[in-house]
Amino acid sequence: MKIIKKPEELQKAIEALKKKGKTVGLVPTMGALHAGHISLMKKSVSQNDITVVSVYVNPIQFGPNEDYERYPRPVEHDIKVCKENKVDFLFLPTNETLYNDNFSTYIYNNKLAKIMCGVTRPIHFQGVCTVVSKLFNIAMPTRAYFGLKDYQQYVIVKQMAKDLNFNIKVIGCAIVREKSGLAMSSRNTYLSQQAKQDAAGIYKSLCLAKQQFCEGKKLKDIKKKLEKNILAVAESKIDYIELRNSENLDLAADKDKSVVIAVAVKVGNVRLIDNIVCKK
Ligand code: PAF
Repeated sequence: MKIIKKPEELQKAIEALKKKGKTVGLVPTMGALHAGHISLMKKSVSQNDITVVSVYVNPIQFGPNEDYERYPRPVEHDIKVCKENKVDFLFLPTNETLYNDNFSTYIYNNKLAKIMCGVTRPIHFQGVCTVVSKLFNIAMPTRAYFGLKDYQQYVIVKQMAKDLNFNIKVIGCAIVREKSGLAMSSRNTYLSQQAKQDAAGIYKSLCLAKQQFCEGKKLKDIKKKLEKNILAVAESKIDYIELRNSENLDLAADKDKSVVIAVAVKVGNVRLIDNIVCKK
């Protein structure tokens, strides 16, 4: 595995490989790699000749009072995980190599970035789209892999690739969960053992909501019940509960065949997101 820090260096290496007809898979991450990330790497390795993993805690997707400073950065662990999973290139850029002094060009989705997580995190998706488009230009992947835990991010990146003619297949990969049902997340390290157990109630509530959806219950009743169940999780505070069309994130209607039920919940002071896709 080759570790590369400079964007130009990765670009050159990938250009040479693509000239030889190799396919390239990109797994963009912020590190603190866990089983969720490993599932993305495995998928990329199985579908492409070359796999690139980027590990970069992107400052421009964090709001002023968010956890940029505190976000875990276990670099040695991340290197080991990538090596063990047959990654070919680990891209470790720095703020200096990625954002020049006059950096002033941003990518923003004028519709999808304003809803759900975008309400309380207004600059988040602009930061995500900007860094992901930079990574797309640097790694020039054939395919790029995103975890479906960040469902809104997946839909926004897919739309960005379409809107901006990136010739890249954006692939969403199933959420990987702890045994308890808690969705894997680098931010779970902020949770105490007790809070982790409590937070597993979020997934249980989502499963129940899915069951009700499949039974044909009205969306407003499903939402009401879900709210009640999530509020029963100790120390929980709901940021949002949203039922949306799983393709375009429009507000879901009772006639919709495929709906994503997405939640953002604070457990203590840790903000967690999770979702479940329900199909009729
Ligand atoms: O999902 C993440 O970890 C990040 O938002 C991403 C896609 C790597 C961009 O920084």
